[in-house]
Amino acid sequence: MTAYLVDPATSVQGRIRVPGDKSISHRSLMLGGIATGITEVTGFLPSADCHATRSALRAMGVTVDELGEDHLRVHGVGLHGLRGADSLLDMGNAGTAIRLFMGLLSGQRFPSTLSGDASLQRRPMERVAKPLRLMGADIETQDGKPPVKLRPVPRLTAIDYAMPVASAQVKSAILLAALYADGTTRVSEPAPTRDHTERMFETLGVRVARSGGTVAIDGGQSLMAAPIDVPGDFSSAAFFIVAGCIAARGSFVIENVGVNPTRTGLLDILKLMGADIRLHPRGSGAEPVADIEIHAAPLRGIRVPEALVPLAIDEFPVLFIAAACASGQTVVTGAEELRVKESDRLATMAEGLTTLGIRNELAPDGITIEGGRFGTGRIDSHGDHRIAMAFSIASLNAEGPIRVEDVENVATSFPGFVTIARRAGLSVQSA
Ligand code: S3P
Repeated sequence: MTAYLVDPATSVQGRIRVPGDKSISHRSLMLGGIATGITEVTGFLPSADCHATRSALRAMGVTVDELGEDHLRVHGVGLHGLRGADSLLDMGNAGTAIRLFMGLLSGQRFPSTLSGDASLQRRPMERVAKPLRLMGADIETQDGKPPVKLRPVPRLTAIDYAMPVASAQVKSAILLAALYADGTTRVSEPAPTRDHTERMFETLGVRVARSGGTVAIDGGQSLMAAPIDVPGDFSSAAFFIVAGCIAARGSFVIENVGVNPTRTGLLDILKLMGADIRLHPRGSGAEPVADIEIHAAPLRGIRVPEALVPLAIDEFPVLFIAAACASGQTVVTGAEELRVKESDRLATMAEGLTTLGIRNELAPDGITIEGGRFGTGRIDSHGDHRIAMAFSIASLNAEGPIRVEDVENVATSFPGFVTIARRAGLSVQSA
């Protein structure tokens, strides 16, 4: 098992770029795979999670040429062109891949079995299976978890579905199944979640009706291939956004980051805490993109508005690092979804914060963190990529070295993290 050894640092500087967006990269492969024609993808994230999606599509007959590690050509087979894989489809650590494939594969004429690593096998799948069954899908989970077995059914039928949880993965799975369903499917979300599927559908010629919190699409629509340029991943940039805020001095810029408003809740939260962050937009395609300029600034603790939780859902580990560097208390509520991510992120972060001497109190749906200064210690990331990267950033306000254990899974979302962190001024090395 590898670890990071992180020594204290005081500033981050210069200009960096982060790898492509994970959510958009998964979708570019899946939607490109069932489109008619060739979809050229630039800025693709060459990470383990996205490679799992690519391998699965290849196993189902989609040719994917690699013109460079972040440049792909997906030869779409059309809406009904996928063929059954010879064996189980291994999604590795990727929750997005397994849940979106459940939607995409539930209306196919062949059976599929989907599973993944130990972490994925602990994650809830019924939230996706239930609405798909209402559409007529034949899906079996093991006590609600992977492996997930899908058997062919004569047809899927459109549903009107009010999602009980704000989840872009559930919404996207239903929208993918809706392509294969008779009638108009409508999905309503209790709070806005990332809308990359809807935007990419529109890019590829699928008509999407959006009104309030409801998305509707008609079944049977074909997708027409079109180029997809994937921006830098806001969720990867988040580590360096917080780094820039909590550094003792300096300013720096992260270039070419996706700033879709359904993803940037962290910016709103940090600004409420007193952060100095400026966005410089860079033209606009299907997804808004900007350079993000961050200046070191003192942060103060706040009560995080619950409405911002789904818009910052993957950024809480590093937000907790910011909270630990703020003056006073930060209170997070309405965030029980963090308990079913790659690890139980409330428990894993609380454990690490305590190890480093930061007082905190866990609640079933959140945490209260008292600002202070990080001590030194050994952190167990529990195999969760975002926990490992978050505690590396803590070194900007630490009294001594931090050792972060079990960091292999950083490769699921952020290949090259150590190199980029060092370029920015952090003192991280793999051990
Ligand atoms: C994702 C949606 C979110 C997020 C995940 C990626 C997506 O999950 O946490 O990393 O690409 O749709 P939920 O929909 O379960 O909140």
